[in-house]
Order: sequence, then C-alpha cells, then structure tokens
Amino acid sequence: MTETVPAQLVTDAAPRPTAQDRKAALAGLFDRSAPTYERVGVDHFTELGRRLVGHAAVLPGDRLLDVGCGTGAVLVPAAEATGSTGSAIGVDLSSGMVERSREALREAGLTHAHAVVADAETIDWDAGEHAVPPPANGSLDAVFAGISLFFFPHPHRAVARYRELLSPGGRLAISWWGRPDPRWDPVFAASAPYGRGGSSHALPEDSPFRSVDALHTLLKEAGYASVETDEQQYVTRFRGVHQWWDWVWSTAGRMFWEGVPASSMERAKAAVDAELDRLRAPDGSLTNTSAVRFTVARTQPSTATETMP
Ligand SMILES: C[S@@+](CC[C@H](N)C(=O)[O-])C[C@H]1O[C@@H](n2cnc3c(N)ncnc32)[C@H](O)[C@@H]1O
Repeated sequence: MTETVPAQLVTDAAPRPTAQDRKAALAGLFDRSAPTYERVGVDHFTELGRRLVGHAAVLPGDRLLDVGCGTGAVLVPAAEATGSTGSAIGVDLSSGMVERSREALREAGLTHAHAVVADAETIDWDAGEHAVPPPANGSLDAVFAGISLFFFPHPHRAVARYRELLSPGGRLAISWWGRPDPRWDPVFAASAPYGRGGSSHALPEDSPFRSVDALHTLLKEAGYASVETDEQQYVTRFRGVHQWWDWVWSTAGRMFWEGVPASSMERAKAAVDAELDRLRAPDGSLTNTSAVRFTVARTQPSTATETMP
C-alpha cells in the first residue's frame, strides 16, 4: 500500500533508515549480546540449531554455508554432520558473534569449518581478507539460516543468491518463529508503552515471515523446485524471573529494552515483573512455548541427460 505524505511531514520527519543503517545497527546489537548469548543457562538456540541441521539431512562430505551463524548453534552440528571430508562456512555481520563461532569450532576440533564477518545477503567478500574465499556458484549442498533470515532487509534477494550457490538438488534450510506463546501476550503488552517495536516477533506488514504461505511463495518465486515446512512447539524453561531477564538481554530481545528511556526503565520493569509473577509456577519457574518453523526448499535435481556410449 502506498501513502501520500504531506510535504512538510517529509521535511520534518527523521529519514527512514537505509538497509545499510539497519545492518550496522544489527551488527552492534548482536556484538553487545555476543558475550552472554546462549550462556545464561537456558538451552534455546543450541537445541533449535540441532533440529534445523536434522531437517536438512546433511551427508558426510557435504559443502555447507550457514548465514547469520551467530555463536555456532547451527554451524557446529552442521560441521560435525558433514565431517572432515566436507566443509562449512558460517557468515555473520557481528564480529563478536563470529569470534564466539570460531571459539566453538576450535573447542570442537572442527578444522574444516570457518566463520567470517560479512553480509550474508550477498555472500561476496574479498577472498584475500578472509580465511576462506566465498563459495562459487553451484558449489554448495546446503545453506542454513537459523533464526536469522527475517532480520535481513532483502530476504528475497538473499534466497535468490543462495539458489545460485546451491548445486542441483541442494537444500536451503530455514528456521523461523511461528505463533509466540499467547500466555506471554500480557508481558509484552505491559512493556509496550515504554519503548518502540523491537521484538524479533514483530514483523513489517510485507514480511514473507508473516505466514507459511508467504514464505513458500517467496521461495518458489526465487526458483526453488519444492518447499516444505514442519512446525514444532519449543518449550523454553527459565529457573525464575531473574534468569528470564538475563536471557532477554542475551538475545535480540535487548533491542526493545535498549530503547526504553532511563527515566521510565524502573516503571517498565515493574510492569513486566507484575505480569511475570502471574506466569510463575509454584516453584518460581517460567516456561514459554513458542511455535518454531523449519522450512526446507530444494533446488531442481539434475536430470541424467547424457547417454552412455
Ligand atoms: C538470532 S541470531 C541467530 C544466530 C544463530 N544462527 C543461532 O541459531 O543461534 C541472528 C544472527 O543473524 C545475524 N545477522 C543478521 N543480519 C545479518 C546479515 N545481513 N548478514 C549476516 N548476519 C546477519 C546477526 O548478527 C545474528 O548473529
């Protein structure tokens, strides 16, 4: 939908952030969450990463790419599945996240896998400046995007780029959010008056991540031959309210809280704590059951056109 905006509003309004501005802001956001991401005692992205790798049926020797690799929740199990006869490259905008991925690969002894700081929308970096050159067109067996693609300003361009990189019959495996736990709606409603946007569940009107149909349409239009989505429930457990707060600040959820003015922070936290109190089990613990979607798109398999002599 296009809107007609009076000229004076255009002049006075703050300029809309460009795609580059949004990427720079995300790199900063994830740099700040990198030290604690998946380190506050809550098993969340690690398990989702394992499940995504399971959906892509990785074989020994496969050549893999993981876009928005973060701390390695997908990259590490993917590199384990392909083994040392294969290869895996993780790409992330945030140098803090990439450092964590490298650390995880070192600890797991996965020397056939690398992580690079680069924009995963284009997969086009200077070979001389990184440990590995960008993958060539048609060279990959699978591309993973674990809880990352909906952050990209141009997901349609990104999935088209991955199709070029994939070999015939290659897989693009994406994990993304379905319906958030409705029991938690009052928690987010309580914080909403104090900040702006900020939840990774809050998507723009035209986002392809608003429905399974919309994402399937995007992938078909990008030339993938088949697309399937499996929706699962994922229960995240928190020992108590303090652990939930630590967890929020370790994820993209901190985006909202960084935008709350210092003058209203205490009131905002008190409003949220009152709602969290209602969700607590008798032992003080909290659980959140979200829908997680695992979408696998495949490129056209090669057809045997050559005839034997
Ligand atoms: C929620 S984290 C997910 C990380 C990891 N895949 C996981 O499953 O834990 C999203 C990641 O996407 C990265 N990201 C967002 N936009 C990106 C882009 N255009 N290029 C590369 N990485 C990007 C962020 O820096 C962040 O590390």
